[in-house]
Amino acid sequence: MRILVVGSGGREHAICWKLAQSRHAQKIYCAPGNSGTMEFAENVDIKDDDVDGLADFAEKEKIDLTFVGPEGPLVAGIVDEFQSRGLRIFGPSMEAAMLEGSKAFAKEVMGTSHVPTARYKIITNREEAEAAIKEFDRAAVKADGLAAGKGVIICKTRKEMEEAVKALLNSTFTSGPVRKIVIEELLEGEEASILAFCDGKEAKLMVSSQDHKRIFDGDKGDNTGGMGAYAPAPVTAGLDKKIHDSVFSPVLKEMEKRGSPYIGVLYAGLMVKDGSFNVLEFNARFGDPEAQPVLSLLDSDLVDATLACIEGKLNDTDIKWKPGAACSVVISSKGYPGKYETGMRVTGLDEAKKLPNLKVFHAGARLEGNNVVTNGGRVFGVTGTGRSIKEAIENAYRGVSLIKFEGMHYRKDIGKAALGTR
Ligand code: AMP
Ligand code: GLY
Repeated sequence: MRILVVGSGGREHAICWKLAQSRHAQKIYCAPGNSGTMEFAENVDIKDDDVDGLADFAEKEKIDLTFVGPEGPLVAGIVDEFQSRGLRIFGPSMEAAMLEGSKAFAKEVMGTSHVPTARYKIITNREEAEAAIKEFDRAAVKADGLAAGKGVIICKTRKEMEEAVKALLNSTFTSGPVRKIVIEELLEGEEASILAFCDGKEAKLMVSSQDHKRIFDGDKGDNTGGMGAYAPAPVTAGLDKKIHDSVFSPVLKEMEKRGSPYIGVLYAGLMVKDGSFNVLEFNARFGDPEAQPVLSLLDSDLVDATLACIEGKLNDTDIKWKPGAACSVVISSKGYPGKYETGMRVTGLDEAKKLPNLKVFHAGARLEGNNVVTNGGRVFGVTGTGRSIKEAIENAYRGVSLIKFEGMHYRKDIGKAALGTR
């Protein structure tokens, strides 16, 4: 099978790595890829949002399966375009991807299908905001539309809510000027990421994981795309069936009823407290960095799982997971998630390669001559595996200690919540 992976992050390196282990894989391309994906795939110089360019490439190269990593092309309709040209592709359609593309849409679907989620109001101007704010003591103020993780402001007072509305309304993010805002009750608890393979009717949950969104230890500082993740997350232990039945199953039913069945990976971000949970958000894809520990624990062939989703055969397909745990520590550039410089030379990758139970997934990294140099905010996802979460964490940090570049930053507490020491 000739496979095309779309994207250039640590998630896509992990996807290429896992696809390369498939009995179906003959040739893998990655567009645009990074210095890591080159290990398993031929990088193709097409941007991940160039839907037509990607479809032309897939036609020309007779690609049998395209696997989309990031949300941008999904929300832009890459799946619809490929399908209209008779090309097989894994991911939700444009309409189904609205579960991530519009927080207001996601809230509405959750309401109709009775998925547990925080109480909320949608506003489109300052007057509506003023009235809505009165209904909350503390709130998460969220821009509707894709915002690359920058569209949510946590507010502890009404004054902060007013400022958040002012800052977000009409500001411009990935999907253009913000016209709608969701104000929702602030929830407490521990977050977990639950991803599932979905075939339009059925969902099969993957091992749970937990991301670390803030830049500094102890969940301090700005929100980022994610500074590290581990799997499985003990906070959701024993909750799989309840999460399947009260979140994934009703949402898939509702999407099917609306004529946009959800096929692909659906990611539910949960807030868990004392064994009960609420959905904070949906993503229409693998999480990044969650993909790195989660795929490290996937025992089954990823192409088989993907085809089962596309063909609506998830019910007949056994998806197996490895015992043990995995932990991915992100190394980022100085200044991230704000401004940062690129082009810093990286050392220690060859030494890290020799370590057992370790895989360094490249993200914002590229090859310059024979050297790997930094090329983005999040540069590597150093991923350890082990029999226990403790072992996986130790293996990941052993890898981190070998890698060096000017200004590198990483959190030292990834996975600590799972050990009960944070
Ligand atoms: P979202 O993109 O909606 O998941 O929001 C990004 C982050 O904001 C989440 O990962 C949470 O850390 C936080 N967040 C979002 N909604 C809430 C909420 N209702 N209560 C508390 N924290 C929230
Ligand atoms: N790590 C969070 C996300 O992928 O959205």
